[in-house]
Amino acid sequence: MSISTKELPIGIFDSGMGGLTVMRAMRARLPGENLLYLGDTARLPYGTKSADTVIRYAVTAARALTARGIKMLVVACNTASSVALPALNQALAPLPVIGVIEPGAAAAVAAAKGEPVAVIATEGTVKGGAYVRAIQTLAPDLPVVQQAAPLLVPLAEEGLVTGEIARLAVARYLTPLLATMPHPRILVLGCTHFPALKQTIAQVAGPDVTLVDSAATTACAVEAKLEALGLRNPGTQGVSQFLATDAPDRFSRVGEIFLGAPIDPGSVEVVDL
Ligand code: DGL
Repeated sequence: MSISTKELPIGIFDSGMGGLTVMRAMRARLPGENLLYLGDTARLPYGTKSADTVIRYAVTAARALTARGIKMLVVACNTASSVALPALNQALAPLPVIGVIEPGAAAAVAAAKGEPVAVIATEGTVKGGAYVRAIQTLAPDLPVVQQAAPLLVPLAEEGLVTGEIARLAVARYLTPLLATMPHPRILVLGCTHFPALKQTIAQVAGPDVTLVDSAATTACAVEAKLEALGLRNPGTQGVSQFLATDAPDRFSRVGEIFLGAPIDPGSVEVVDL
């Protein structure tokens, strides 16, 4: 029996487990879709690597997903979205490719209502300036400041998302950032790992600062694209599959923090890219 394009999974790609925050939002918004997630755990982190290396890794990983048959690619990694989208679009055309930066920027602009915006992300994302560009394309006069917060990635992966260590690390980055003038009122969590630290980030940022992340808005963007292309799966109970390039046990254990649901270690297939 041949399977129709609509039934093909949506490929979701991240440098590791953080993109599971986007998968979580997609499972909530699009429960009928089949999802195939690839975490490039062997080569994590991407955030400290050069743009050329991230582009090469992202295209290789995306090809591994397209080789299995997907109807759309979601780049659930801010670092890869910030530098590799043009190369991915070119390599995979006509497959639709959606990154997380534009939906995150749209969410920030909608929440900002003209107030200044701050972005925390990996070194690579900050250096590339993709959030600043995306936000100011939508709202040219909006002040945007940004700060790399690389230490928050391993903290999230260790599950150290609350308590003194997490608070000190978050404050180390946020205190100077939020003290810039004019004071930012919106804080974009521009890295897939940061939603895991949301509670601590909110405590440090204080009640006057609204947190924005791109997971929910990316799920909305995926839904809109599926509708526009007539690719919505008519099923109601989508299946999730997981691929990792290394350490499947760690993927399932740590991945639960980001997915918010158990991942059976036996369901994580190791792939070599
Ligand atoms: N997934 C990356 C991002 O969203 C964070 C982890 C990494 O540095 O690879 O930017």
